Amino acid sequence: MKSEELDNEKKQLDQLIKAVLKSPKYRNVCEDLIKNIGKRELSKRKNLKIAIKSTKNKLHQIGGAYFLKKPNYCFWLEKLRKAKKSGNEDLFRKTCAEIMSYHYSTRERLNILDQFYVQIFSLLPPVQSIMDVACGFHPLSIPWMPVSEKVKYYAFDVYKDLTSFLNEFMVINDVQGYAEVRDVTQHAPEINTDLAFILNTIPCLEQIEKSAGLKILESINANFLAVSFPAQTLGGREKNMLKHYEARFNKLTQEKDWVIQRLEFGSELVFLITK
Ligand SMILES: C[S@@+](CC[C@H](N)C(=O)[O-])C[C@H]1O[C@@H](n2cnc3c(N)ncnc32)[C@H](O)[C@@H]1O
Repeated sequence: MKSEELDNEKKQLDQLIKAVLKSPKYRNVCEDLIKNIGKRELSKRKNLKIAIKSTKNKLHQIGGAYFLKKPNYCFWLEKLRKAKKSGNEDLFRKTCAEIMSYHYSTRERLNILDQFYVQIFSLLPPVQSIMDVACGFHPLSIPWMPVSEKVKYYAFDVYKDLTSFLNEFMVINDVQGYAEVRDVTQHAPEINTDLAFILNTIPCLEQIEKSAGLKILESINANFLAVSFPAQTLGGREKNMLKHYEARFNKLTQEKDWVIQRLEFGSELVFLITK
């Protein structure tokens, strides 16, 4: 490619990133992800304007659509602090559950929280460290996990404000670890943990890049991977989702010699992989 064309491409990509970041809905999304999606959209679309629109659409599908309302992180942190300070663990859990109800993935899991972790962890040796890939609000479920208070928790997502909130949440709840902004399709976490949660996430990552699901399963350094798929679409329709995702998961793992256990909950299908 000529240097003039390269310059033009770079200029267009810079303009696209600037335009996307200007929108209040996407200003907290990590630039790395916007660049990743923007590059692909610019190569597919007729002009810059259309590429900006389709980049925003994609960001909506893989992240924005899951928020039921605009997050009010400051207010939520205050509530969490108050609940923690009261010493009433039921109130603290209730506050976590209320916040989780504002994100579709955790909202769908609220009714099964009590069995979800008990069943998964009953199949594992004691877990000292956990990574949560494309975490959303899921770290707020830590109080339901049967782990020691020394457990280390590492969470990754593409929203800067969300990861800041989660870092504060971990301080309030006295959990060691951190939350970090990261496009996991480009930079899989390098750390090594006992368990990795990859919950309801593969379909999102595969919308960015078809091979991203397999890549993440291969590159995560954890002894056990809890990989799940939702039973319903965001609109609440079932449309044979479980069958479809199970077939997809089987295809992704068919050539692997991993041990795989299947756990079906009402709203979610979980595969526990031992690498
Ligand atoms: C369906 S939600 C699942 C959230 C969480 N794992 C759960 O099950 O509660 C998908 C999450 O993936 C995040 N995400 C999408 N693309 C990502 C990427 N490339 N890197 C990291 N996180 C990503 C979104 O921001 C969103 O929080």
